[in-house]
Amino acid sequence: MSNLLEDVKQLLASTNGTSRGILLEELQELIVSAETSQETATRMYPLQASAARIGHDLKIFEALRSSGTKTLEQLQDMTNANPITLVLGRLLRYMASVGLIREAGVNQFEANQTCQKLATPEAVTTLTHFFDNGGPLFQAMPAFLRNSNYQDVTDEKATVFQSALKTDLDTYTWFSQNPELLGALVKYMALEQSVRARWLDEYPIERDTQNWDPTLPVFVDVGGNVGHYCALFRHRFPNVPGRVILQDLPHTLAQALQTPGVEALAHDFFEPQPLKGARFYHLGWILHNWSDEKSKHILRQIRSAMGVQSVLLINDMILPETEVPAHAAALDLVMLGGCGGRERTMKEWRDLLGDVGLVIKECIMYNRELCHGIIGVVLS
Ligand SMILES: C[S@@+](CC[C@H](N)C(=O)[O-])C[C@H]1O[C@@H](n2cnc3c(N)ncnc32)[C@H](O)[C@@H]1O
Repeated sequence: MSNLLEDVKQLLASTNGTSRGILLEELQELIVSAETSQETATRMYPLQASAARIGHDLKIFEALRSSGTKTLEQLQDMTNANPITLVLGRLLRYMASVGLIREAGVNQFEANQTCQKLATPEAVTTLTHFFDNGGPLFQAMPAFLRNSNYQDVTDEKATVFQSALKTDLDTYTWFSQNPELLGALVKYMALEQSVRARWLDEYPIERDTQNWDPTLPVFVDVGGNVGHYCALFRHRFPNVPGRVILQDLPHTLAQALQTPGVEALAHDFFEPQPLKGARFYHLGWILHNWSDEKSKHILRQIRSAMGVQSVLLINDMILPETEVPAHAAALDLVMLGGCGGRERTMKEWRDLLGDVGLVIKECIMYNRELCHGIIGVVLS
């Protein structure tokens, strides 16, 4: 048996890309085939995410990862959970029962693989955002869709979000009034940006900016959040001539990174784009927030500012026609529920852009596994 498991481990370590995905799927199927229906359903409880979120609050995963097997009493001391002895014991028991940690004996716990992974800052940021911001949405989604007869959601002011949060505000206005949850979103965006920053290594920016007039905008990041991409652009291409400008709504710019060589300009992307003829306009994870109609409105504002040399860089997911990975398929539903937006396939991108007089000049998939691509778009 142990030889068999060793073989599977080696096989997993030696595969990547699509083969790794297929292997993981088959292993998952194997596990499910051995479960009862009730075990499968129990694994789906949102309680698991809730327990993991509590584990992060109490830093249980970090404590177990860094210092080996611990007794309940030691964990109480390490997590400052002293006054809640009984609760901590019950929480740990549940966490062990669903495999978040391992029970090593009576009231003794240690790290397993899941615990090791949950202890990382990436896991804390991801789970905090998807539990605190996504959780209410996921909870309200079944009733919302049932009541609307499973119609597509396209109006950003009548999505699952409003129903879940009991608000009339659209998602971004609501976040601007809820700084703690906005903080969780911003942190998650920064994490994603660090993965998505790879496009800067792949797109031929230097080739396309030779002899650019230094007085003109070279990179305008529309809806650029706090300016991670502007900072990376400046850092990665210190000799590229031209102005680098971050645009977003005023409340987001209030938290903008202070990067030498980056200007900040408050701009609502539904209004006419004030910066004309930039070499690059960048829309990173913007259009997936919006329905086709609203996306076309945003695109038209940029289109009317573009010159013959301008390229609009759309940095978004490009879904394959089949076998969309779980992370991408989940984000598509988060977009549907959160803001009436959607992730798009290449055909959907082409149609959307064609409708507003834009054509695709080139497309680079800079992270195929996560479906991240950058589409260079010009006037048709
Ligand atoms: C999902 S984030 C994308 C951030 C960044 N572009 C990236 O690639 O990570 C969407 C951004 O759009 C901004 N935004 C939302 N509505 C906007 C509007 N009407 N005008 C300008 N920016 C807006 C938000 O403040 C937020 O920073």
